[in-house]
Amino acid sequence: MFTKNATEALNLAIFGLLLPGDHVITSSMEHNSAMRPLRELESKGVEVSVIRCSPRGELDPGDLMTAIKKNTKAVILTHASNVTGTIMPVREVGNITREHGLILCVDSAQTAGVLPIDVSEMNLDLLAFSGHKSLFGPQGTGGLYIRKGIEEKIKPLIVGGTGSRSEHESQPDFMPDRYESGTLNTAGLAGLGAGAEYILRKGIDHIRTKEILLTQYFLDGLKSISSVRIYGPGEASRQISVVSFNVDGLTPSEVSFAFDEQYGILSRPGLHCAPSAHRTIGTFPGGTVRFSFGYFNTEEEINYALDAVRQLSRRRKE
Ligand SMILES: Cc1ncc(COP(=O)(O)O)c(C=O)c1O
Repeated sequence: MFTKNATEALNLAIFGLLLPGDHVITSSMEHNSAMRPLRELESKGVEVSVIRCSPRGELDPGDLMTAIKKNTKAVILTHASNVTGTIMPVREVGNITREHGLILCVDSAQTAGVLPIDVSEMNLDLLAFSGHKSLFGPQGTGGLYIRKGIEEKIKPLIVGGTGSRSEHESQPDFMPDRYESGTLNTAGLAGLGAGAEYILRKGIDHIRTKEILLTQYFLDGLKSISSVRIYGPGEASRQISVVSFNVDGLTPSEVSFAFDEQYGILSRPGLHCAPSAHRTIGTFPGGTVRFSFGYFNTEEEINYALDAVRQLSRRRKE
């Protein structure tokens, strides 16, 4: 069913599913779109366990196993960190949740459109996605995949007119109408459909291969600059095309401001709506500078970005 973004999809999954007395497990690399609804519910009697990931943002599935308790209901996990790009072991986690009868909700805001996702094979019960990132849709689009049967366990976030069963004053119980009340962003969703068709035409493997090449090229270049500290796996095949780094002696804001003002490069400094992830990798509260590449970026642009980083770090020393 469609939502206006991944945040709304995660809110629906989390608030719809969890009740006081339930236990839920998540990782320390989550975006606030998952962490804030969980913390809100924690204050209302839901038990929340946050598994500490490694300083590179990696989750050990063994830690998840040991966190499972009698009242554990669900695992909420990002598919890849928006801070370090680290790809989470969702397949292994899916095996664990299936074995223990838990509901697995994955946040694919950073991966839908670039990493292959097979909800059956990966044992995913819920999958939240953004339309406006790697799915090439317009802003204001997103959605939640709900495995057949799971909808009985998830309360709608809003109820109202659906254009169906209008003779009843109670909400329809079938998909997607149970969750899609009010007029949807039809024009935006048509754009999202066009984005998805483009991806299917190009092939997700082709898109991922290009993003790996660009990311590795940038990482290799950064590694040759001594004043740059890179966070995350530092290896393109183990991450998505998000690269976080800092330049010694400069704050992330100074670096991003200079990229924007002097080079016309947009990057994002700070905590990236994921304070817990920055605590995990040791960059709280200052954060990092984050670059993210897309299918349409070129090697030439990466050379230009690397030159900008070299010039900035040289100027810092003068
Ligand atoms: C990992 C992750 N989850 C959730 C979100 C929220 O996505 P949206 O803006 O579609 O609500 C983001 C956005 O940056 C993200 O990176």
